[in-house]
Amino acid sequence: MATHRPSTDRTSELDSVGIELRQALTRRPRTLPPRWLYDDRGSELFSQITSVPEYYQTETERQILASHSAAIAEITEATTVVELGSGTSDKTRTMLDAFVTHGLIERFVPLDVSEATLLDAADMLVERHPSIEIHPVVGDFTRHLHRLTEVPSNGPRLVLFLGGTIGNFYVEERRAFLGALADVLAPGDWVLLGIDQLKPIDRLIAAYDDDQGITEAFIRNALVHINATYDGDIDVGNFEYVPFWDGRQERIDMRLRACEPMTARLDALDLDVDMAAGEEIRVEISSKFTPSSILSELEEAGFGEQDATGRHVFADPSDDFAVVLARKR
Ligand code: SAH
Ligand code: AVI
Repeated sequence: MATHRPSTDRTSELDSVGIELRQALTRRPRTLPPRWLYDDRGSELFSQITSVPEYYQTETERQILASHSAAIAEITEATTVVELGSGTSDKTRTMLDAFVTHGLIERFVPLDVSEATLLDAADMLVERHPSIEIHPVVGDFTRHLHRLTEVPSNGPRLVLFLGGTIGNFYVEERRAFLGALADVLAPGDWVLLGIDQLKPIDRLIAAYDDDQGITEAFIRNALVHINATYDGDIDVGNFEYVPFWDGRQERIDMRLRACEPMTARLDALDLDVDMAAGEEIRVEISSKFTPSSILSELEEAGFGEQDATGRHVFADPSDDFAVVLARKR
Protein backbone atom coordinates (compact mmCIF):
# COMPACT_ATOMS: atom_id res chain seq x y z
CA MET A 1 0.00 0.00 0.00
CA ALA A 2 1.35 3.44 -0.84
CA THR A 3 -0.15 6.58 0.62
CA HIS A 4 1.17 10.00 -0.10
CA ARG A 5 -0.59 12.32 2.25
CA PRO A 6 1.52 15.04 3.85
CA SER A 7 0.56 15.92 7.36
CA THR A 8 1.38 19.27 8.92
CA ASP A 9 1.21 20.84 12.35
CA ARG A 10 1.18 24.58 11.91
CA THR A 11 -0.94 25.77 14.84
CA SER A 12 0.82 28.79 16.33
CA GLU A 13 3.87 27.59 14.44
CA LEU A 14 4.73 30.96 12.94
CA ASP A 15 4.37 32.61 16.34
CA SER A 16 6.73 30.25 18.14
CA VAL A 17 9.24 30.27 15.27
CA GLY A 18 9.15 34.09 15.26
CA ILE A 19 9.60 34.30 19.03
CA GLU A 20 12.56 31.92 18.77
CA LEU A 21 14.12 34.03 15.98
CA ARG A 22 13.65 37.26 17.94
CA GLN A 23 15.51 35.66 20.87
CA ALA A 24 18.17 34.30 18.51
CA LEU A 25 18.89 37.74 17.06
CA THR A 26 18.94 39.56 20.38
CA ARG A 27 21.19 37.23 22.44
CA ARG A 28 25.02 37.37 22.17
CA PRO A 29 26.44 35.84 20.14
CA ARG A 30 23.41 36.09 17.89
CA THR A 31 22.78 32.42 17.07
CA LEU A 32 20.32 31.16 14.47
CA PRO A 33 18.32 27.92 14.75
CA PRO A 34 19.35 25.58 11.86
CA ARG A 35 15.86 25.55 10.32
CA TRP A 36 16.63 28.95 8.67
CA LEU A 37 19.14 27.22 6.40
CA TYR A 38 16.48 25.08 4.74
CA ASP A 39 14.07 26.93 2.49
CA ASP A 40 13.82 25.53 -1.08
CA ARG A 41 17.01 27.34 -2.11
CA GLY A 42 18.85 26.17 1.03
CA SER A 43 17.84 22.55 0.42
CA GLU A 44 19.09 22.88 -3.16
CA LEU A 45 22.40 24.36 -1.94
CA PHE A 46 22.79 21.58 0.65
CA SER A 47 22.22 19.08 -2.11
CA GLN A 48 25.05 20.73 -4.09
CA ILE A 49 27.32 20.66 -1.01
CA THR A 50 26.94 16.88 -0.82
CA SER A 51 28.84 16.55 -4.08
CA VAL A 52 31.63 19.12 -3.66
CA PRO A 53 34.97 17.28 -3.43
CA GLU A 54 35.84 18.64 0.04
CA TYR A 55 32.57 17.42 1.61
CA TYR A 56 33.30 13.72 2.14
CA GLN A 57 30.43 13.01 4.61
CA THR A 58 27.55 12.12 2.31
CA GLU A 59 29.39 9.67 0.08
CA THR A 60 31.13 8.04 3.03
CA GLU A 61 27.87 7.55 4.88
CA ARG A 62 26.26 6.22 1.71
CA GLN A 63 28.97 3.56 1.47
CA ILE A 64 28.58 2.59 5.12
CA LEU A 65 24.83 2.24 4.68
CA ALA A 66 25.22 0.26 1.45
CA SER A 67 27.49 -2.21 3.26
CA HIS A 68 25.46 -2.58 6.44
CA SER A 69 21.76 -1.98 5.69
CA ALA A 70 20.99 -5.71 5.42
CA ALA A 71 22.56 -6.27 8.85
CA ILE A 72 20.65 -3.29 10.28
CA ALA A 73 17.35 -4.70 8.93
CA GLU A 74 18.16 -8.06 10.50
CA ILE A 75 19.26 -6.69 13.88
CA THR A 76 16.34 -4.26 14.30
CA GLU A 77 13.53 -6.26 12.64
CA ALA A 78 11.87 -2.86 12.19
CA THR A 79 8.42 -2.71 10.64
CA THR A 80 8.28 1.12 10.70
CA VAL A 81 11.25 3.24 9.65
CA VAL A 82 11.13 6.95 10.48
CA GLU A 83 13.66 9.41 9.07
CA LEU A 84 14.14 12.77 10.79
CA GLY A 85 15.51 15.62 8.66
CA SER A 86 15.09 13.30 5.70
CA GLY A 87 15.74 15.90 2.95
CA THR A 88 15.91 14.08 -0.37
CA SER A 89 16.00 10.65 1.41
CA ASP A 90 18.67 9.91 -1.13
CA LYS A 91 20.85 7.53 0.92
CA THR A 92 17.74 6.01 2.46
CA ARG A 93 16.67 4.47 -0.86
CA THR A 94 19.36 1.83 -0.63
CA MET A 95 18.50 1.19 3.00
CA LEU A 96 14.83 0.70 2.14
CA ASP A 97 15.81 -1.73 -0.62
CA ALA A 98 17.53 -3.86 2.03
CA PHE A 99 14.58 -3.60 4.43
CA VAL A 100 12.11 -4.59 1.72
CA THR A 101 14.27 -7.58 0.78
CA HIS A 102 14.41 -8.56 4.46
CA GLY A 103 10.61 -8.58 4.34
CA LEU A 104 9.31 -6.99 7.56
CA ILE A 105 9.05 -3.29 6.77
CA GLU A 106 5.49 -1.92 6.38
CA ARG A 107 5.93 1.83 6.34
CA PHE A 108 8.42 4.65 5.94
CA VAL A 109 7.84 8.02 7.61
CA PRO A 110 10.16 10.81 6.40
CA LEU A 111 9.89 14.04 8.44
CA ASP A 112 11.37 17.34 7.34
CA VAL A 113 10.76 21.06 7.66
CA SER A 114 11.51 21.62 3.96
CA GLU A 115 8.14 20.77 2.39
CA ALA A 116 8.91 20.77 -1.35
CA THR A 117 12.02 18.62 -0.92
CA LEU A 118 10.15 16.21 1.37
CA LEU A 119 7.22 15.78 -1.01
CA ASP A 120 9.44 15.28 -4.06
CA ALA A 121 11.32 12.58 -2.15
CA ALA A 122 8.03 10.96 -1.09
CA ASP A 123 6.85 10.85 -4.74
CA MET A 124 10.05 9.13 -5.73
CA LEU A 125 9.76 6.60 -2.88
CA VAL A 126 6.13 5.77 -3.67
CA GLU A 127 7.25 4.77 -7.17
CA ARG A 128 10.26 2.83 -6.01
CA HIS A 129 8.60 0.99 -3.10
CA PRO A 130 4.94 0.27 -3.96
CA SER A 131 4.79 -2.46 -1.30
CA ILE A 132 5.24 -0.10 1.66
CA GLU A 133 3.26 2.85 2.97
CA ILE A 134 5.08 6.15 2.52
CA HIS A 135 3.83 8.66 5.10
CA PRO A 136 5.62 12.04 4.77
CA VAL A 137 5.32 14.46 7.69
CA VAL A 138 6.08 18.16 7.28
CA GLY A 139 7.40 18.99 10.72
CA ASP A 140 10.14 20.23 12.98
CA PHE A 141 12.11 17.58 14.82
CA THR A 142 12.70 19.96 17.72
CA ARG A 143 8.96 20.50 18.18
CA HIS A 144 6.96 17.65 16.68
CA LEU A 145 8.53 14.39 17.84
CA HIS A 146 5.37 13.62 19.82
CA ARG A 147 3.64 13.09 16.49
CA LEU A 148 5.63 9.89 15.99
CA THR A 149 3.47 8.30 18.68
CA GLU A 150 0.51 8.73 16.28
CA VAL A 151 2.18 6.56 13.63
CA PRO A 152 1.00 2.94 14.01
CA SER A 153 3.54 0.12 14.14
CA ASN A 154 3.09 -3.63 14.46
CA GLY A 155 6.69 -4.15 15.46
CA PRO A 156 9.85 -2.28 16.41
CA ARG A 157 10.38 1.20 15.02
CA LEU A 158 13.71 2.42 13.74
CA VAL A 159 14.40 6.17 13.71
CA LEU A 160 17.08 7.32 11.28
CA PHE A 161 18.90 10.61 11.90
CA LEU A 162 21.52 10.64 9.20
CA GLY A 163 24.05 12.94 7.59
CA GLY A 164 25.60 14.11 10.86
CA THR A 165 22.61 16.41 11.49
CA ILE A 166 22.87 15.57 15.23
CA GLY A 167 26.03 17.72 15.07
CA ASN A 168 24.03 20.82 14.18
CA PHE A 169 22.52 20.94 17.69
CA TYR A 170 24.15 22.75 20.60
CA VAL A 171 25.13 20.41 23.46
CA GLU A 172 22.08 21.20 25.58
CA GLU A 173 19.74 20.94 22.56
CA ARG A 174 21.28 17.58 21.68
CA ARG A 175 20.58 16.28 25.16
CA ALA A 176 17.01 17.57 25.00
CA PHE A 177 16.52 16.06 21.52
CA LEU A 178 17.81 12.61 22.50
CA GLY A 179 15.72 12.71 25.67
CA ALA A 180 12.59 13.69 23.71
CA LEU A 181 13.27 10.93 21.20
CA ALA A 182 13.61 8.37 23.99
CA ASP A 183 10.30 9.59 25.41
CA VAL A 184 8.37 8.93 22.18
CA LEU A 185 9.91 5.49 21.55
CA ALA A 186 9.02 2.21 23.23
CA PRO A 187 11.54 -0.22 24.75
CA GLY A 188 12.90 -2.31 21.87
CA ASP A 189 12.65 0.51 19.29
CA TRP A 190 15.90 1.66 17.67
CA VAL A 191 17.74 4.81 16.66
CA LEU A 192 20.41 5.02 13.94
CA LEU A 193 22.57 8.16 14.16
CA GLY A 194 25.03 9.30 11.49
CA ILE A 195 28.02 11.11 13.00
CA ASP A 196 30.96 12.87 11.43
CA GLN A 197 34.10 11.73 13.27
CA LEU A 198 36.86 13.93 14.70
CA LYS A 199 39.74 14.24 12.27
CA PRO A 200 42.59 16.61 11.35
CA ILE A 201 41.39 20.21 11.35
CA ASP A 202 42.48 21.09 7.81
CA ARG A 203 40.09 18.51 6.33
CA LEU A 204 37.26 19.73 8.54
CA ILE A 205 37.81 23.39 7.65
CA ALA A 206 38.01 22.54 3.92
CA ALA A 207 34.69 20.68 4.14
CA TYR A 208 33.01 23.90 5.36
CA ASP A 209 34.91 26.37 3.18
CA ASP A 210 34.85 24.74 -0.24
CA ASP A 211 36.61 26.33 -3.19
CA GLN A 212 33.39 26.78 -5.17
CA GLY A 213 31.85 28.84 -2.33
CA ILE A 214 28.74 26.68 -2.13
CA THR A 215 28.90 26.34 1.66
CA GLU A 216 29.27 30.11 1.94
CA ALA A 217 26.19 30.60 -0.27
CA PHE A 218 24.30 28.07 1.89
CA ILE A 219 25.17 29.96 5.09
CA ARG A 220 24.32 33.38 3.57
CA ASN A 221 20.99 32.04 2.34
CA ALA A 222 19.77 31.80 5.96
CA LEU A 223 19.59 35.63 6.00
CA VAL A 224 17.84 35.68 2.62
CA HIS A 225 15.28 33.22 4.03
CA ILE A 226 14.74 35.37 7.14
CA ASN A 227 14.28 38.51 4.99
CA ALA A 228 11.73 36.72 2.81
CA THR A 229 9.80 35.33 5.78
CA TYR A 230 9.63 38.49 7.89
CA ASP A 231 9.66 41.21 5.25
CA GLY A 232 13.22 42.14 6.23
CA ASP A 233 15.93 44.29 4.68
CA ILE A 234 19.12 42.75 6.10
CA ASP A 235 21.89 43.58 3.61
CA VAL A 236 23.33 40.10 3.04
CA GLY A 237 26.18 41.56 0.95
CA ASN A 238 27.44 43.45 4.03
CA PHE A 239 28.59 40.17 5.62
CA GLU A 240 31.70 38.10 5.21
CA TYR A 241 31.67 34.34 5.81
CA VAL A 242 33.84 33.26 8.76
CA PRO A 243 34.10 29.49 9.35
CA PHE A 244 36.46 28.29 12.10
CA TRP A 245 37.27 25.26 14.23
CA ASP A 246 36.35 25.57 17.91
CA GLY A 247 38.71 23.04 19.47
CA ARG A 248 37.28 23.31 22.97
CA GLN A 249 33.76 22.43 21.80
CA GLU A 250 35.06 20.18 18.99
CA ARG A 251 32.90 21.82 16.36
CA ILE A 252 33.04 23.89 13.22
CA ASP A 253 31.49 27.28 13.87
CA MET A 254 30.06 29.10 10.82
CA ARG A 255 29.48 32.83 11.24
CA LEU A 256 28.59 35.89 9.19
CA ARG A 257 30.48 39.06 10.22
CA ALA A 258 29.16 42.55 9.42
CA CYS A 259 31.70 44.51 7.37
CA GLU A 260 30.04 47.92 7.92
CA PRO A 261 27.72 49.08 10.70
CA MET A 262 24.21 47.97 9.84
CA THR A 263 20.66 48.90 10.72
CA ALA A 264 18.07 46.45 9.47
CA ARG A 265 14.42 45.83 10.16
CA LEU A 266 12.29 42.70 10.09
CA ASP A 267 8.93 44.36 9.62
CA ALA A 268 6.72 41.35 10.17
CA LEU A 269 8.49 40.63 13.47
CA ASP A 270 8.51 44.32 14.46
CA LEU A 271 12.23 43.88 15.16
CA ASP A 272 15.19 46.21 14.49
CA VAL A 273 18.58 44.53 14.16
CA ASP A 274 21.47 46.95 14.68
CA MET A 275 25.00 45.63 14.29
CA ALA A 276 28.39 47.29 14.62
CA ALA A 277 31.15 46.55 12.08
CA GLY A 278 32.80 43.29 13.10
CA GLU A 279 29.75 41.94 14.97
CA GLU A 280 28.80 38.39 14.09
CA ILE A 281 25.81 36.13 13.63
CA ARG A 282 26.53 32.47 14.36
CA VAL A 283 24.52 30.75 11.65
CA GLU A 284 25.43 27.09 12.20
CA ILE A 285 27.68 24.76 14.16
CA SER A 286 28.70 21.26 13.15
CA SER A 287 30.00 19.14 16.04
CA LYS A 288 32.30 16.20 15.50
CA PHE A 289 32.23 13.01 17.58
CA THR A 290 33.82 9.71 18.36
CA PRO A 291 31.51 6.69 18.37
CA SER A 292 32.15 6.24 22.11
CA SER A 293 31.27 9.86 22.94
CA ILE A 294 27.91 9.65 21.17
CA LEU A 295 27.23 6.19 22.62
CA SER A 296 27.59 7.58 26.12
CA GLU A 297 25.20 10.43 25.29
CA LEU A 298 22.77 7.85 23.90
CA GLU A 299 23.14 5.75 27.01
CA GLU A 300 22.41 8.74 29.21
CA ALA A 301 19.23 9.36 27.17
CA GLY A 302 18.03 5.75 27.59
CA PHE A 303 19.44 3.92 24.56
CA GLY A 304 21.75 0.90 24.48
CA GLU A 305 22.12 -1.76 27.16
CA GLN A 306 25.29 -1.57 29.25
CA ASP A 307 26.31 -5.07 28.15
CA ALA A 308 26.51 -3.63 24.61
CA THR A 309 23.91 -6.02 23.12
CA GLY A 310 21.75 -3.09 22.07
CA ARG A 311 24.42 -1.01 20.36
CA HIS A 312 26.43 -1.32 17.19
CA VAL A 313 28.89 0.94 15.37
CA PHE A 314 29.42 0.81 11.60
CA ALA A 315 32.22 2.93 10.13
CA ASP A 316 34.25 3.34 6.95
CA PRO A 317 37.82 1.95 6.89
CA SER A 318 39.33 5.43 7.51
CA ASP A 319 36.96 6.23 10.40
CA ASP A 320 35.86 9.44 8.71
CA PHE A 321 32.17 8.89 9.45
CA ALA A 322 30.12 6.38 11.45
CA VAL A 323 26.56 5.25 11.93
CA VAL A 324 25.67 4.22 15.45
CA LEU A 325 22.70 1.95 16.18
CA ALA A 326 21.20 1.83 19.68
CA ARG A 327 18.11 0.18 21.15
CA LYS A 328 15.74 1.95 23.54
CA ARG A 329 15.98 0.30 26.96
N1 SAH B 1 19.34 13.50 6.09
C1 SAH B 1 19.81 14.10 4.84
C2 SAH B 1 19.70 15.62 4.87
C3 SAH B 1 20.61 16.31 5.85
S1 SAH B 1 20.48 18.08 5.72
C4 SAH B 1 21.21 13.66 4.58
O1 SAH B 1 21.74 12.89 5.37
O2 SAH B 1 21.80 14.05 3.57
C5 SAH B 1 19.50 18.43 7.13
C6 SAH B 1 18.02 18.19 6.87
O3 SAH B 1 17.32 18.47 8.08
C7 SAH B 1 17.44 19.10 5.80
O4 SAH B 1 16.64 18.34 4.93
C8 SAH B 1 16.59 20.10 6.59
O5 SAH B 1 15.46 20.56 5.87
C9 SAH B 1 16.21 19.30 7.80
N2 SAH B 1 15.98 20.11 8.99
C10 SAH B 1 16.78 21.06 9.52
N3 SAH B 1 16.26 21.53 10.67
C11 SAH B 1 15.10 20.85 10.84
C12 SAH B 1 14.10 20.85 11.85
N4 SAH B 1 14.19 21.65 12.91
N5 SAH B 1 13.07 19.99 11.73
C13 SAH B 1 12.96 19.15 10.66
N6 SAH B 1 13.86 19.11 9.67
C14 SAH B 1 14.92 19.94 9.77
C1 AVI C 1 23.19 18.74 7.62
N1 AVI C 1 24.44 18.92 8.31
C2 AVI C 1 24.92 17.68 8.91
C3 AVI C 1 25.50 19.57 7.50
C4 AVI C 1 26.82 19.61 8.28
O1 AVI C 1 27.81 19.13 7.73
O2 AVI C 1 26.85 20.06 9.42
C5 AVI C 1 25.07 20.96 7.09
C6 AVI C 1 26.16 21.73 6.44
N2 AVI C 1 26.52 22.95 6.76
C7 AVI C 1 27.49 23.35 5.97
N3 AVI C 1 27.79 22.35 5.16
C8 AVI C 1 26.96 21.32 5.42
